[in-house]
Amino acid sequence: MTGAPEHLPLLDRTGLPDDENLRILLARYPRAQWWEHENIHGLSGHWLEIHNSFREAGKILAGGIADYREGRKSAPDFARWFTPRLNRLLGHLDTHHRIEDDIYFPKFVEAEKRLTRGFDILEGDHHQIHAALESNAEAANAFLRALQENEDKQRFAADNYAMENEKLVAMLTRHLDDEEDLIVPLILDRGDRTFGH
Ligand SMILES: [Fe+2]
Ligand SMILES: [Fe+2]
Repeated sequence: MTGAPEHLPLLDRTGLPDDENLRILLARYPRAQWWEHENIHGLSGHWLEIHNSFREAGKILAGGIADYREGRKSAPDFARWFTPRLNRLLGHLDTHHRIEDDIYFPKFVEAEKRLTRGFDILEGDHHQIHAALESNAEAANAFLRALQENEDKQRFAADNYAMENEKLVAMLTRHLDDEEDLIVPLILDRGDRTFGH
């Protein structure tokens, strides 16, 4: 990486920018064919599985919020159910991004310099997601505190929290897709050994 994360707002994006360098490998290895490639059974397949577990966790949290808001879960039941799951997701995301930024992104850039800008963008995404995680945690805490208050305050805090959570999940989903478009074709092209596996 160049050491300078590039800030391209995740919520305004529909994919990686139209930059020829970033699409060379993806054009050769389109997403629909990834699982037919023999190099998918290793690092890249593992990456996709981790990303799918984040997508799944995001959906489960959103489902839990909907259950509370639509009256299928009481406030205390929801809080008991929700808090450990949210903390687990935040912890896993934090570790995952650290491993990417510190260990893998430098190896990927080393292997393919034309993707440098792409990894600067992904690193910028990690900063954006972390800022969203912080406001998500604040909204979650405000909501948990509001459970001691009257119903109006609970509703207000729940709506605010649901909005923060939707935003976070949308940002995460965009980032996961764009990251895969950059990383998976590179690993398929070079094989796991290039990256020390
Ligand atoms: Fe990432
Ligand atoms: Fe990732």
